[in-house]
Amino acid sequence: MNTADLRRDYHRATLIETDVDASPVTQFKRWLGEAVKAELSEPTAMTLATVGEDGLPAARIVLLKGIDAEGFLFFTNYDSRKGRELAANPHAALLFHWVELERQVRVEGEVSKASVAESDAYFASRPRLSRIGAWASPQSDPIPDRGWLEREFSAAQERFAANPDSIPRPPHWGGYRLLPTVVEFWQGRDSRLHDRIRYRREDPDWRIERLAP
Ligand SMILES: Cc1cc2nc3c(=O)[nH]c(=O)nc-3n(C[C@H](O)[C@H](O)[C@H](O)COP(=O)(O)O)c2cc1C
Repeated sequence: MNTADLRRDYHRATLIETDVDASPVTQFKRWLGEAVKAELSEPTAMTLATVGEDGLPAARIVLLKGIDAEGFLFFTNYDSRKGRELAANPHAALLFHWVELERQVRVEGEVSKASVAESDAYFASRPRLSRIGAWASPQSDPIPDRGWLEREFSAAQERFAANPDSIPRPPHWGGYRLLPTVVEFWQGRDSRLHDRIRYRREDPDWRIERLAP
């Protein structure tokens, strides 16, 4: 297989300045709604890029759990690599790629922790075994082997056996919200003449510009 020969054309849709909403949040909700309606697999999966104290970037996928004027909400382990990096440098980027819709959304901004009440509420809504997993897994730390993880999981299950329905949120687990300063919508077009519409925050409004593909 020659990866250089793998290519495709894009022609499903267009993105024109006069069609987009004045708010990138509303525009994002519109596109996310279309991704959900198209029954894409994991439409809320987004790549989260952070920067370490050494100035080097790292990326991984997390799931979007909410979006409003306050930003893009996701949940994770605060002691994980991403948590440590966000504590040292709150600037981050998000990326959505909705392959079948030939769309990409890039988001940049500053991340802050969600409120305790919000993290508690979302944690309580998670399936029981996911809640136990949050206690069992020291996310991003090296561990001896698979057996060690399974023993930690069993130990956590036993710990909460008396009260299986009220598993508290671990203090090291919760939400983050990325407040966007830049949001770019990309729609694939013919001949690589893609549409790129970028919003930049100019409080209280957003400046909308077209970028060359
Ligand atoms: C589809 C998908 C969804 C994921 N969702 C989350 C998530 O919502 N939160 C999370 O902490 N990790 C999630 N992960 C795992 C992360 O990609 C990553 O492995 C983990 O958070 C550790 O990253 P870190 O070591 O950079 O902190 C997901 C992975 C995939 C492939």
